[in-house]
Amino acid sequence: MFVDSHCHLSFPELRAALPDIRAAMAAAQVDRALCICTTLEEFESVHALAMSHDDFWCTAGVHPDNEGVLEPRLEDLLALAARPKVVGLGETGLDYYRLNGRSLEDMAWQRERFRVHIRAARATGLPLVIHTRCASQDTLAILREEGAGQVRGVFHCFTETLEVAREALALGFMISFSGILTFKNAVDLKAVAREVPLDRCLIETDSPYLAPAPHRGKTNNPSYVPLVAAELARLKGLEVAQIAEATSRNFETLFGPTVCRPGVVRT
Ligand code: NI
Repeated sequence: MFVDSHCHLSFPELRAALPDIRAAMAAAQVDRALCICTTLEEFESVHALAMSHDDFWCTAGVHPDNEGVLEPRLEDLLALAARPKVVGLGETGLDYYRLNGRSLEDMAWQRERFRVHIRAARATGLPLVIHTRCASQDTLAILREEGAGQVRGVFHCFTETLEVAREALALGFMISFSGILTFKNAVDLKAVAREVPLDRCLIETDSPYLAPAPHRGKTNNPSYVPLVAAELARLKGLEVAQIAEATSRNFETLFGPTVCRPGVVRT
């Protein structure tokens, strides 16, 4: 019924609890999850999760915050993208939140890394999973320069303004809402969620981070994604089942027919 479009089940605190998490997912009717890669070093463990569970898929990519890790070349991403159950590239993008005394010019390496992911998306047709923080204008500008009209994807864990949402939608991207949507003080984000068309919304946990209310501050996991759906339903004046159905369909639209539930025939 529900799909968690972005989680980090390979991270140790979740990996160790996987049997319990899968039982909780089943109880909460969370029937699919996309396991997100953040370093090339991590890829094999993320991919192994997808290969060993019918209802998990994965991405390949290097998060903009990760430094001192293998730098992905285009050929690296193309090779990983060709592996079974890899349905997206990322998470990638720009993050100027932790400059640690550096200037924006000093972050050229991050922009180049992002461009490499966009080129891989263009070459493979796979969607991009975009992380952007304190860098929305550069993120949008680079997307336009490198891939306008040629790449698809999602702005994950969206926390930007309505204006940025509109620009992302105009580029053909989807918008994914995380547990932040359930936080009382996320007033601006709730307003954005009311405006994003239902056929462009995804839901996610970004677990182990950002557990939705009433679990805020605890370790997050994919079984909590219905709490995000419930808040989105409340904001849009819809039933939770309608949000579940729409976001599941959007997930299939974006990530492709292979993410269909095993045993379910697509019509
Ligand atoms: Ni993430």
